[in-house]
Amino acid sequence: MKKISFPFSILLIVVISFQSFSQVTVKNLKCEYLENPIGIDEPHPRFTWQMELEKPGSHQTAYELVVGTTETEVALGRGDMWESGEVNSSVIPVLYKGKELEPFTRYFWSVRVKDEEQQWSAWSEPLFFETGMICQHNWKGKWITDTYDFNVKPAAYFRRAFRTDKTIRSARVYIAAAGLYELSINGQRIGDHRLDPSYTRFDRRNLYVTYDVTAALQQGNNAVGVLLGNGWYNHQSTAVWYFDKAPWRARPKFCLDLHITYSDGTKEIIATDEQWRTSPSPVIFNSIYTAEHYDARKEQPGWDTPEFDAGQWNNIYTTGAPSNNIVAQALHPIRNVREYKPVSLKQIDASTWLYDFGQNMSGVTRIRVEGPEGTTIWLKHVERLDSAGRADMSNIDVHYRPTDESDPFQTDILILSGKKEDEFMPRFNYKGFQYVEVTADKPLNLTTENLTAYFMHSDVPPVGSINSSNLTLNKVWAASNASYLSNLFSYPTDCPQREKNGWTGDAHIAIETGLYNFDGITVYEKWLADHRDEQQPNGVLPAIIPSSGWGYQWANGPDWTSTIAIIPWNIYLFYGDTRLLELCYDNIKRYVNHIDEHYPSGLTDWGLGDWVPVKSVSSKEYTSSTYFYIDALILAKTARLFGKTEDADHYFALAEKIRTAINEKYLDYETGIYGSGLQTELSVALHWGLVPEELRSKVADNLAKRVIADKKHIDVGLLGTKTILNALSENGYAQLAYEVASQETYPSWGWWIVNGATTFYENWSLDAKSDISLNHIMFGEINAWYYKALGGIFPDEQAPGFKNILLKPNFVEGLSHFEATHEGPYGNIISSWKRKGKTIEYHVTVPANSSATLCLKGKSIREKNAPLEKNKLIEVREKGQNQYILGLKAGSYTFSIK
Ligand code: BGC
Repeated sequence: MKKISFPFSILLIVVISFQSFSQVTVKNLKCEYLENPIGIDEPHPRFTWQMELEKPGSHQTAYELVVGTTETEVALGRGDMWESGEVNSSVIPVLYKGKELEPFTRYFWSVRVKDEEQQWSAWSEPLFFETGMICQHNWKGKWITDTYDFNVKPAAYFRRAFRTDKTIRSARVYIAAAGLYELSINGQRIGDHRLDPSYTRFDRRNLYVTYDVTAALQQGNNAVGVLLGNGWYNHQSTAVWYFDKAPWRARPKFCLDLHITYSDGTKEIIATDEQWRTSPSPVIFNSIYTAEHYDARKEQPGWDTPEFDAGQWNNIYTTGAPSNNIVAQALHPIRNVREYKPVSLKQIDASTWLYDFGQNMSGVTRIRVEGPEGTTIWLKHVERLDSAGRADMSNIDVHYRPTDESDPFQTDILILSGKKEDEFMPRFNYKGFQYVEVTADKPLNLTTENLTAYFMHSDVPPVGSINSSNLTLNKVWAASNASYLSNLFSYPTDCPQREKNGWTGDAHIAIETGLYNFDGITVYEKWLADHRDEQQPNGVLPAIIPSSGWGYQWANGPDWTSTIAIIPWNIYLFYGDTRLLELCYDNIKRYVNHIDEHYPSGLTDWGLGDWVPVKSVSSKEYTSSTYFYIDALILAKTARLFGKTEDADHYFALAEKIRTAINEKYLDYETGIYGSGLQTELSVALHWGLVPEELRSKVADNLAKRVIADKKHIDVGLLGTKTILNALSENGYAQLAYEVASQETYPSWGWWIVNGATTFYENWSLDAKSDISLNHIMFGEINAWYYKALGGIFPDEQAPGFKNILLKPNFVEGLSHFEATHEGPYGNIISSWKRKGKTIEYHVTVPANSSATLCLKGKSIREKNAPLEKNKLIEVREKGQNQYILGLKAGSYTFSIK
């Protein structure tokens, strides 16, 4: 015995010490792309993590993942729900494949990874995810509302008081609403989300939100309060899209289950039922579209506390659920993400003041002010000033059709209590603005302290950065991000003021800009669920999503509604995750089949064309047919990916048929000119792969000539902005593309910036008469182009999710340094370069567990001043100058290029 135990214990010590000195570590662990999410319904949650880059070439050769109900067991690598065992794979995400998940349960998970030297990391600190309802039958509450008609203006309070005699171990609120809500417990607002639940097609899908309210409850008396707003559900304002006539429209309603677990293990559920009471609130009017009005005289202090006497309050009214599909809201919520103090304040007269926040944004302002009882204050939010320096909303109120004067556009109204300093910030509205004109019906003294602005949007984590020696370029990047975020409210919108509509075209043009800069997968997965809800059985989608019916008859051709294919495909490229493609596969197919049935020639003129062009107008049939081609191709590739061979063959053939039809009609094979040779026509063909290979350089040369003839300025609209810079830089004209991209005279992005823009505009011309919102993301592709053309960072379709990174930087003249970073699923990619005399010093970081294929152009390349290591070189192509193709493992490298 002794003989055996001695060496064994040594072995054990060796194993333990080997493990504790193991260098491999994992970080950024997420479940369903969220950190420790609670209240999820997904039966097969996805797990992701990154490996720390400890040494060159670090990569994962295997992983082991466990899921269990006991944290201490999971920490030791034991899971009673799932033990994946050792899986020889280096790819994320990993899908849960264990026992069926129970509702309302916290599951812990941990992962360890094995590196290339067969060393295991330690088990990660357990993280968790918690399930929600999972199945609708688990709801206990009734849907409740008050007895008023949907035209009644004041928002309603609801409350329920109850007593708990035992000590509380944990508590969760599950709340679903048609409309918007703010939840409070014992006088304290719960959570920091804004505008929950997210906007959906209410009669098809409703979202519920889960909160951990353990800390908010107390042993003894408690009260739960809900303030219910209209949102898009009860659209009382009238505008050209008829949301006031939405088929779902009704007085807002909600359903709430409060699950309490006591220390003795017993459970109780307090749910919405007849015991709840209701009363009108001081929010006397609320419109997601226009503004909110608040009468501080109607406040009922302590309305959501246990002590409050609700004797005068009314009975509630029980009603039906808005849809039979109540699902978890599993996404980054909308928040007041950034606070802005005024940069200036001007007094106009005794009762009028003008605030400037220095940044155009989506969001709200909060006013704190004291004054005589009944004083009425109007807060008019605008994007620009008129020649007299007063608030001007003529660029944004054009589609509003008010029926009287009671609901002025983008104008909050506050009536003072006279008792104290009143405070007001809209709860159920947001606006697009930079300036606020505050007017009162009595003289008013204001300072910069009285008003604060909040930039609100879906709070998606930033994952990218651009920095260069060109300050205007840096500002263009920042302004496009401001517009992207101003237009992200759990669905992408066109503009935060005039419409707030989920315009499909704007969103697919901006998808790469979105994904290079922000971790947006959760929002897009939700928005594509909205697509599936909206799609008609025949495949047709509306131009705006969600929609109450508007947009099925106009503007919904493939150049706009190809979101159904383009968004899932880009999510696949950026995240290496096939789920969205799987969920949308049949929808893409139905969509493509519909166009195919109606346009058997392969050519379709269904669409809007190159929207808001600088001057030249390209053929609509040409651009719409191109989008039909893009969709057919995405469908074919997806079919191949999923092993659906018949579909793959069918749709590859269809794609080829469309391409041929376009080329036969629009390409002059002799001259290499598409259509009449406009920038949009030539660049669309090059960027989207219509051009026969042998004509590629000819068409590119024609495009370059066209652009030079156009004085190196753009002459494109929405569809052309997607392609013009990419088509040039992808076909040997990166320098010309940069010259176009960095123009500061009309028409250009820089022109907006030198004229003071802090967001992207809807029109190239500053004095256009229509389409003049100052906060549109639709011309935003230039931001993605910085990552692609200057940083050279591309996802690799063969190894998506930046598992392999394609790096093709262009060291353009005019920049002395440039840096792009993008945190992909495997970690942070850095591509940066600077000029040192005639040499370029190029630095690149390839995250652990990924690789890169780097293409560098130059006469000679050295690495850290030594000859290039042969093992990195894949190929040298000679074409004027040398093109070096290098294969890089994870690590940081510096090259000098001459
Ligand atoms: C929107 C655009 C949209 C267009 C299409 C406009 O009113 O603001 O961004 O794509 O309509 O018709």
